[in-house]
Order: sequence, then C-alpha cells, then structure tokens
Amino acid sequence: EPIPVHDRTIALVGLMGVGKSTVGRRLAKRLGLPFADGDIEIEAAAGMTVSDIFAQLGESEFRAGEARVLKRLLHAPRMVLATGGGAVLNPETRAELKARAVTVWMRADLETVASRVQRRDTRPLLRGRDPMEALKAMAEVRYPFYACADVIVDVASGAHGEAVDGIVRAL
Ligand code: S3P
Repeated sequence: EPIPVHDRTIALVGLMGVGKSTVGRRLAKRLGLPFADGDIEIEAAAGMTVSDIFAQLGESEFRAGEARVLKRLLHAPRMVLATGGGAVLNPETRAELKARAVTVWMRADLETVASRVQRRDTRPLLRGRDPMEALKAMAEVRYPFYACADVIVDVASGAHGEAVDGIVRAL
C-alpha cells in the first residue's frame, strides 16, 4: 500500500556504509516507488565499476559523471534514490537535491560505519587507508552538507528494518 508523502523523490544521503542502498531498496518497496542506486547507475552509464572509474579516470571524472547521473535521476519520475556518500560534494548536485528531492540523512556513528565498511573492499576512497581516519576526514567535510537534509534519521543501531521505519515515520 503506497504511503502518500510528497511528490518529490526521496534521496538518501550519508557516508558510505550507513546502508543507503539496502534501506533505500526496502523503503521503495514499502512506499510503492521505484528505486535507483546512483553508484549502480554510474556503473551502467560508464560501463565500468566505480573502483575502475576511480583507478582509471580519477576521482574528479567520477564526480562529474556522478553529478550528471544524479541530475538525470532527479528529473525522472518520483523514486527512492540512494546517492553515493560523496554526492553532496558537488554544488550543482546539492542544488538539484534541494530543488527536487526530500533528502534524508542516514546518520550513524563513525565506529558503526567503520565496522561495516571493513567487511568489503569495494570502496576506492578507503583503499590503503586507516578506515577510521579516512571516515573522520570525510565526516568533517561532508557533515555540514548532510546536515542540510530535510530529515535526519539515526541508524546507529544498524538494523535496516528500523531505519526504514524511522524514515517512514519522519517523512
Ligand atoms: C563514495 C561513496 C561510494 C561511491 C564512491 C565514492 C564517497 O558510494 O560513490 O566510492 O565519496 O563517499 P556509497 O556511499 O554508496 O558507498
């Protein structure tokens, strides 16, 4: 049963590892909306994995592609959209999000995030770095942007079902 909220796309923002993709997919199902994952759309558009884009083209090319893909998705019919953790670094993306989406910051403490990202090695920005140090540096730059979200949901407990409920309640 679709829950009527707004007419806007619901965009999940927050650091890597907070569960944007998993929670986004479940939230979309719950709301009867389509779901898109920005990183997967970037990979489809580029015909390369995110890791390969970083390795072969560099971060700034990745960011430019990310901004183009998110713009397209934000102009598509209403959906739940999981954005990459660094999406908010782009001023145009921030403006598009503000104009077209309800933004939800999925916030978790850095220890929780660090423990989650260590389980996978698919994140080019963490490669060869101490995860906690890298996450702290990211948080410092990005939290002011995430904090502009329309809704802030604490997902510290780590349970995805609770995060979905928390977002639905907050919308
Ligand atoms: C990034 C996060 C990743 C992906 C890329 C860069 C970041 O997405 O876009 O590796 O800058 O934080 P997730 O947040 O989905 O892991």
